[in-house]
Amino acid sequence: MHEMLSTRENLTRYFRYLVLKYDRDKYPRFEGSYQFNLTEGGLCHAYSVTVFRGEAQFAEGVHPCPDLTIESPVDVWLAVSGGRRSGTVAYLLGLYRIRGRLRELRKFSQIFGKKFTPLVMRESEEGDHRRSKPTAAERRRFTRALVIAGSSRGLKGYTGFYLDHFVRGMRDAGGEVEVIDLSRSDLAVAPCRGCFRCWLRDGAPCVIEDDGGWIIRRINESPLVVYALPLYADSAPAKVKALLDRQFINLRPFFVPAGRLTRHPLRHPATRSLALLAVCGFPEAEHFAPLVQQFKDFAHNGCYDFAAAILRPGGQYFYEDPTCIGPLRKIAAALEEAGRELMLRGRVSRGLLKAIAGDYGISRVVWREQSNMYWYLKSGGGKEAEGHAVE
Ligand SMILES: Cc1cc2nc3c(=O)[nH]c(=O)nc-3n(C[C@H](O)[C@H](O)[C@H](O)COP(=O)(O)O)c2cc1C
Repeated sequence: MHEMLSTRENLTRYFRYLVLKYDRDKYPRFEGSYQFNLTEGGLCHAYSVTVFRGEAQFAEGVHPCPDLTIESPVDVWLAVSGGRRSGTVAYLLGLYRIRGRLRELRKFSQIFGKKFTPLVMRESEEGDHRRSKPTAAERRRFTRALVIAGSSRGLKGYTGFYLDHFVRGMRDAGGEVEVIDLSRSDLAVAPCRGCFRCWLRDGAPCVIEDDGGWIIRRINESPLVVYALPLYADSAPAKVKALLDRQFINLRPFFVPAGRLTRHPLRHPATRSLALLAVCGFPEAEHFAPLVQQFKDFAHNGCYDFAAAILRPGGQYFYEDPTCIGPLRKIAAALEEAGRELMLRGRVSRGLLKAIAGDYGISRVVWREQSNMYWYLKSGGGKEAEGHAVE
């Protein structure tokens, strides 16, 4: 259990960081001393900061002859230091006082303004993200792809049925397609432990020695990765989520601007695309919204080009209802064509996505009635219960 730090502990932490921010490179000859009398709840916390012979140090207590003394409520000074409040405005409003020359105060933020931007970050900034977006030409054709089949029921489930047609199309386009069935009992992908070792020791392998390591290497080598999965609780099945989390190892522990957002630079910048093929139980495509958003965000943060979200709501219904064989054939054909398109053009056309996700005129009322009957029979509710092809 983490206890909240006391004001004194927090101020000690503040001054420890402050002296680290002394910009020796810019101000190598600067020498001076600052006294801070910071008050809270009737208590005064006195700290002094000195810069002498290129070293900045802090100490609790009172400096005998500071160049500048700052007297401020703790919260005001921390807000000014944290950039949440203008130091000038707070000073003019009389929220804190100084003894000494105003010039010394102005210098303060520069002297202690060292930027902790590693060289590599200054070089790349957003650059590697931009670099890793495929150009239109690169996007046109894939000769290799990796499919992560994420259903807990493996390739024999409903997702597997739809995926099979999609992969057939991908292969038909002449591409080399590897399918990794995550459900295999001999493939272990444990959840990320959040130890940050991969961040703290640059390039260190994951502490978890399981199949996640080689699968992620395979993912990193693939110009196109397709995640095929059933919707579970509006999200991805746990093993897929574990695999997404474990790809944290691909990121570096720095923060760079990315459009209007912030993200991490990639450890191995590359040009790659990602597509999602998802199947769900409910008949409405709206249920996919959180999942699609999740994968779009994952693609954005991992610097993938998000190539397509291929969605089949009510996937089980179309497979199980004998009256739906016609639409099911159309869906299967559209999936094959979509697989071909994705490999050849790096995109799936809107018409095909519609054909794959369409309701084929089945009303929700009929859909519910039929589905209820299916589950009633399946759970032994009627003598005429049948076996089903997909168990
Ligand atoms: C644990 C679990 C959670 C599910 N959550 C949802 C859900 O949130 N929304 C939905 O429409 N279907 C949900 N489903 C239904 C599956 O997405 C659907 O049955 C799918 O066709 C299963 O594919 P599979 O045979 O490849 O496993 C869930 C199924 C399971 C087993």
